[in-house]
Amino acid sequence: MTAALIPGSFDPPTNGHLDVIERCVGIFDEIIVGVIGNPSKSPLFDEVERVEMLTDLCSQWDNVRVGSFGGLLVDYATEVGADVVVKGLRAMTDFDYEFQMSQMNRHLSGIVTLFVATKPEFGYLSSSLVKEVSRLGGTIDALVAAAVAAAMKERHA
Ligand code: PNS
Repeated sequence: MTAALIPGSFDPPTNGHLDVIERCVGIFDEIIVGVIGNPSKSPLFDEVERVEMLTDLCSQWDNVRVGSFGGLLVDYATEVGADVVVKGLRAMTDFDYEFQMSQMNRHLSGIVTLFVATKPEFGYLSSSLVKEVSRLGGTIDALVAAAVAAAMKERHA
């Protein structure tokens, strides 16, 4: 039985995140989506809101569960019994930082990070840009799930 941890800020979860989770659904026996409670930037949605949104979005898959964590990612990976960490890669610009984190995590606990390339149509998609477009009144309906778009509209109203 192989379990994968997919960590992130998910503020908000985007269709790019869901694409990465969906890829993993068919590869791993168990998937844990790990929401970081306090990301470096103050989040638009608090930890409970982000976990709730992802729990709803992932309820379509039987082998996905959602949790949250505070300290080191490697400690959370041990706590939930993850064998690997999975990160989505959009472009080479993501690579340097992701590679650095994967090496640090491997140094800390030996855990391996696997990278999943996102679909090309999500190559430009980020939570930060979605927030900016939504805040300035642009349409985000093709970028996030309907429930997330509605929550963002309400937050920015
Ligand atoms: O969605 P994000 O913001 O790219 O996710 C970043 C995240 C949560 C994966 C990263 O910040 C992280 O792993 N934080 C946990 C703290 C930690 O373990 N730091 C050392 C890792 S090298």
